[in-house]
Amino acid sequence: MELLHDRRFAYPCSIQAARRAANQPDFSCRIPRIATGHFAGHWRRYLAGREPTALVNPRLFEVLSLAPFMSTDLSQLGTWNPGAQPACFDPAALAAAVARVREPLHVVRESPHGRLGVGFGGRVVAAGTGYPWIGTLPPLYPEWLGDRGFCETHGVRFPYVVGEMARGITTARMVIAVARAGMMGFFGAGGLSPAQVGTAIDEIEAALGQDGPAWGANLIHSPYNPELESLIADLYISRGVKRICASAFMGLTPAVVRCAAKGLHRDREGRIQRRRHIFAKLSRPEVAEAFMSPAPPALLETLLRAGQLTAEEAALATYVPVAEDITAEADSGGHTDNRPLAALFPVLLALRDRLMQHHRYPNPIRVGAAGGLGTPAAVASAFALGAAYVVTGSVNQAAVESGLAEDGKRMLAEAGLADVMMAPCADMFELGVRVQVLRRGTMYGVRAQRLYDVYRSYDSLEALPAEVRQRLETEILGVPCADVWSEVRRFFETRDPRELERAEREPKHRMALVFRWYLGMASKWPVVGEARRRLDYQIWCGPAMGAFNDWARGSFLQAQANRSVVQIALNLLEGAAVLTRAQQLRAAGVAVPDAGFSFAPRPLG
Ligand SMILES: Cc1cc2nc3c(=O)[nH]c(=O)nc-3n(C[C@H](O)[C@H](O)[C@H](O)COP(=O)(O)O)c2cc1C
Repeated sequence: MELLHDRRFAYPCSIQAARRAANQPDFSCRIPRIATGHFAGHWRRYLAGREPTALVNPRLFEVLSLAPFMSTDLSQLGTWNPGAQPACFDPAALAAAVARVREPLHVVRESPHGRLGVGFGGRVVAAGTGYPWIGTLPPLYPEWLGDRGFCETHGVRFPYVVGEMARGITTARMVIAVARAGMMGFFGAGGLSPAQVGTAIDEIEAALGQDGPAWGANLIHSPYNPELESLIADLYISRGVKRICASAFMGLTPAVVRCAAKGLHRDREGRIQRRRHIFAKLSRPEVAEAFMSPAPPALLETLLRAGQLTAEEAALATYVPVAEDITAEADSGGHTDNRPLAALFPVLLALRDRLMQHHRYPNPIRVGAAGGLGTPAAVASAFALGAAYVVTGSVNQAAVESGLAEDGKRMLAEAGLADVMMAPCADMFELGVRVQVLRRGTMYGVRAQRLYDVYRSYDSLEALPAEVRQRLETEILGVPCADVWSEVRRFFETRDPRELERAEREPKHRMALVFRWYLGMASKWPVVGEARRRLDYQIWCGPAMGAFNDWARGSFLQAQANRSVVQIALNLLEGAAVLTRAQQLRAAGVAVPDAGFSFAPRPLG
């Protein structure tokens, strides 16, 4: 028998003895008995929480896992007497108990040395006959999973955000539906003209009222079109849009700083108040640092000189961060760095803590999580990481309120976990920037990649070998390059003639504009439902979609027609609450069965 007598280890018994004990039903009480001699005292102190121990030996993992059982053995707080409902100890009853998240729940022991289970109602007394009482868990509402400060600041019931999807795929209708359900939605303004965004604002305001529930809209960074970025910013400021999600930024621009600083003022108590909140969606610490810091003085000075900020606004902007809501975006649909949330989130949280300490801001900065959230387990894990709120995207694209045409939604509803790929995108094609798209049922990814490879290999359309050009025209573009160029020319004549001048000077740029026509059109076709070009559909989508489909299979949410954005959200949140409860109970030592860790979608609300 190998005896563990090293004081670095918590378990002064033999590994074999502990393993044997673990195989017995009431091992929690047997283990103390196998401690002998002077090790027993060490062990008792450990179990009572008084002995600091270094549990470093991987060989002890199995023994380690017994710790909660052993410690609860010594931590009976009182006695629980059941009321009308009996205590639950067997697996089926425990699985059902886990789902009752809105009720306080007592963790009790079946007998002085028996299994741990749970009880509802009844009475807890200091001593007497009844079940040994280990502790009580308070109610757990889906509303409470995130940071309550988030809900209070924005006046929402749930810490849940429906992310913007470009070209109005996150429609005004979708924003209205989630706002009415006590969540927040951001209109998908990317790729739309200021007039189209204005129309959406009209629709949302008409439905929700000026001072109605919270909603927002997207300000997407446009490196090639700063005027458009500025116009959209003007629109939001002049229309009084109170929440703006700034995304795709690689640093601060005058437009986003203006959105943040315009309207800053002090209230009667001298506290700095904002007219609008910036949500910054990002995946890189250096970008996060810029948004979590006050706007740079030079940028404020420029805006002040241009008359775009008052002296008071520029001065107050030096005391507050640009954004108080930072969304850490992990592997997602569309533009993504493909970072796993579990790696990205803690880094941004630690950065937030450092910057909060450094700047001593009056208000907290909240960090939310996006990317890959398509199941209750994923949502629960985001909250467990510390997310103040969660943001979903891909899963809402197949919702009935989404702006995607029906055939695209059907394609999404059939996607599996691996049915996505990275492919070149239109807005930063020449730089080789890629977006995550649906692979199943469409050739877009492969075709766009082919265009990029050709772009890299040749200097102009004229330099393309005849066979290469012919294959591009027949297999990808679907029309001769000359026809595409005519259309591109018409577009830029009104939109931005400088592009045409550059194309005249740089044949490679002309080739890029022709290829970008395909990439741009490929994201319009699934929105309008251009069935002839179904194989060219560019549908932005992350692995969350496949995970969601897998979870929804066999439930009412399998049918695409039942996928309302609110039912998706409520089910993800309710499921996350159930899984969180299951984990709480497991950590308290209750042997929660596997069924307790699953939540099937159901109509809620
Ligand atoms: C079809 C589609 C279009 C999107 N368009 C935008 C956009 O225009 N601006 C933006 O900030 N994020 C955009 N996103 C990202 C979402 O707002 C959200 O952050 C992301 O989808 C969350 O990750 P998930 O797809 O894994 O749920 C888009 C996502 C999808 C799926």
